[in-house]
Amino acid sequence: MTETTHHTVRKALAALCLAACACAAVPAHAQSLQVLHWWTSDSERKAVDLIARRLGEQQVGWRDSMVPSGSGVGAGIVLRSRMLAKDAPEVAQLNAIVVRDWARLNLLLELDTVAAAGHWNKLLLPTVASTIEYDGHVYAAPLGIHRINTLFYNRKLLQRLGLPVPATWKEFERVAAKLQRAGIVPLAQSSEPWQVATLFETMVLAEGADLYRGLFVRRDAAAYADRRLAAALLRLRGVKRWMGRPIQERMWPDSLQELAGQRAAMMVMGDWAKGELLSKGQAVDVDFGCAAAPDTGRYHLYNVDTLSMVGTRPEARPAQEKLAALALSPAVQADYNRIKGSIPVLRQPAFAKMDACARASWKLFNSGAEAQVPSLVHRMSTDETVRDAIVTEVHRFFLDDSIPVADTQRRLGTIARTFIKTK
Ligand code: GAL
Repeated sequence: MTETTHHTVRKALAALCLAACACAAVPAHAQSLQVLHWWTSDSERKAVDLIARRLGEQQVGWRDSMVPSGSGVGAGIVLRSRMLAKDAPEVAQLNAIVVRDWARLNLLLELDTVAAAGHWNKLLLPTVASTIEYDGHVYAAPLGIHRINTLFYNRKLLQRLGLPVPATWKEFERVAAKLQRAGIVPLAQSSEPWQVATLFETMVLAEGADLYRGLFVRRDAAAYADRRLAAALLRLRGVKRWMGRPIQERMWPDSLQELAGQRAAMMVMGDWAKGELLSKGQAVDVDFGCAAAPDTGRYHLYNVDTLSMVGTRPEARPAQEKLAALALSPAVQADYNRIKGSIPVLRQPAFAKMDACARASWKLFNSGAEAQVPSLVHRMSTDETVRDAIVTEVHRFFLDDSIPVADTQRRLGTIARTFIKTK
């Protein structure tokens, strides 16, 4: 077990105890659902509270089982242990690949009736519809779509220094050098494995969507030998000089705080960071702005947040179906996504309730399959084991400058070849 995995497991076990405590709360409603999720920051909390409140209006209680683990690594471990211990929650926050894995094991409630009654096939963006399906059945209720390749910048800071928002990595280098001379950290970043890997996947995308899909969707051997992969790895290592020292392993809201507090100027992160900035009272296009991560303007690197209903307790079904239907109600879609920073999963969302970042994100996502690129790190593109192994390898490369790029490239290729691809 790697040190990183050790760390994650330790955190997950601590969370398991925490979850056990959280479940002890007595629900005020006759029916209630225990929901396992990893939404822990202020804005995530507010988004959860909104759904819980709306569910309460339908006489169903929400029992919170939160596992504090950015991107859900710990939550995944806790869910697996609890499934094995026959102590599963009724609802779990999952991402696409994981929905498929649990559905294959026949552990999720099929939501076909809810989907048919709510005309989900007409309501949902087609990519979202296929994300929640396995073997012709619906296994999750989608909440929102996040754009991962987002560059957040402190607008006032860049304006004060007369600096442009970099659209390319070349421009980024120029802007970063000026910021550093002015005593500002150019790029806020944590060394947490998933956060490093999130930055890395945007850098791979910057080298070409064909390369990205070859590596993380099709897992082509040729893509792993491509010198653009080496370029992305070297870029990841190269931008370390623009991060504050030491590069700490911290939660993403802590890095964001640097941006909000004008100590750092930019941050590459999924747009859940927008939700968090809004919850701190910052305003889009006043205090901060969002642009595409450098060299990725044409693409929407995405993930979809969904809730799956665990099918082990038949008596929970009516309440589970209520929650699934609620997720798609226009009011929840508009209000939840505004708080969360994501965009509605709907073909016809309430544009008037969306800010400029959200509108741009929705428009690009909806422009067609060519623009849509599924996130590796946020479990949209390939098997969980491969995802975990790649994240660990990239993290090691990031931390240890003595590892030759060719070694990492070779190892990544081996990972992609070794694990059998499941569909
Ligand atoms: C993502 C998830 C987001 C947000 C983020 C940080 O995987 O889709 O909703 O929670 O992790 O934890």
